[in-house]
Amino acid sequence: MPIVFENIHKAFGDKVILDGVDFRIDDGECFFIVGASGAGKSVMIKHLIGLLRPDQGEIYLDGEEVSRLSERDLYPVRKKCAMVFQNATLFDSMTCAENVALPLRKHTGRSHGQALEAARERLELVHMQDFADSYPAELGDGMKKRVAIARALTLDPRYVLFDEPTTSLDPVSARRTDALIRSLCDDLGVTSVVVSHDLVSIFSIADRIAMLYKGHLRMLGTPKEFQETDDPVVRQFVRGEAEGPMDV
Ligand SMILES: Nc1ncnc2c1ncn2[C@@H]1O[C@H](COP(=O)(O)OP(=O)(O)O)[C@@H](O)[C@H]1O
Ligand SMILES: [Mg+2]
Repeated sequence: MPIVFENIHKAFGDKVILDGVDFRIDDGECFFIVGASGAGKSVMIKHLIGLLRPDQGEIYLDGEEVSRLSERDLYPVRKKCAMVFQNATLFDSMTCAENVALPLRKHTGRSHGQALEAARERLELVHMQDFADSYPAELGDGMKKRVAIARALTLDPRYVLFDEPTTSLDPVSARRTDALIRSLCDDLGVTSVVVSHDLVSIFSIADRIAMLYKGHLRMLGTPKEFQETDDPVVRQFVRGEAEGPMDV
C-alpha cells in the first residue's frame, strides 16, 4: 500500500510551514524529500508516525488514515514505520547488540537471549556483526549510524524514514549509508522515505524526489527529471545552491 499525503496543512502559530501538500509514495520506493533548511521536510515525515498532526488534510499509511489516531492506535503504526532520526542516539552504556535488541525487548515478549540473537541478525544486515559486543563510544559516526539503522529494522518495518542520514558523516561513510538504504529497498522490499540535502545521495539512490518550497510541493519527479527541468528554483537546488537567497 502506498503512503499518501493529501492536502496537508501545518502551521506553528502564525508561521505556515505546509500549505496544502499532496503526494504519494509507492511500495518499495526509495523516495527523497528535499528542500531548503526550514522548508518543512522533517515536519512532513513526523506526520507519518503521528509525532505531529496536520491542521488539515489526511495521511494514509498501509491503507489507514493515521493523522487522527490516538496514541494507543499509533502504536502498531510505529511498529510498521520506523524512523532513523537525524541525531540517532544509541545508549552508551549498552553494547551495539543490546541497543538493537531494545525495541524487541520493549515490543515483544522475547527473552533477553532471543532478542540479542535477533539483534545480531539485524547487525549483519548493516555489516556490523563484528561490532555486536562493542560500545557506541568505540565506533565512528558512520558505524553508529549503521547500528541505528539496524535498530530501526528490529521490528521488520515496511517503511523506514530517514532524516538527514548522511549529514555529518565523512564521504566514505555517507556512500556506505546510501548503499545500505538502497539495499533495504532492493533486497528487503522496504519503502524508504529519506529527507536529505545530500546531492550525491539524491542522485545516486533516489527513485523519485519531492521538493518542498515555501509550503508547497515545487516538483515531484525522477532524478533525471530534476536534472533536466527549467524550473529556476529546482535548478538552483540541483546545482547545490539551495542555501542561497531563494531560501524559505
Ligand atoms: N514543534 C515545532 N514547533 C514550532 N515550530 C516548529 C516545530 N517543528 C518545526 N518547526 C518549524 O517549522 C519549520 C520547518 O521545520 P523542519 O521541518 O524541521 O525543517 P527542515 O526542512 O529543515 O527539516 C522551521 O521553521 C521550524 O522552526
Ligand atoms: Mg529537518
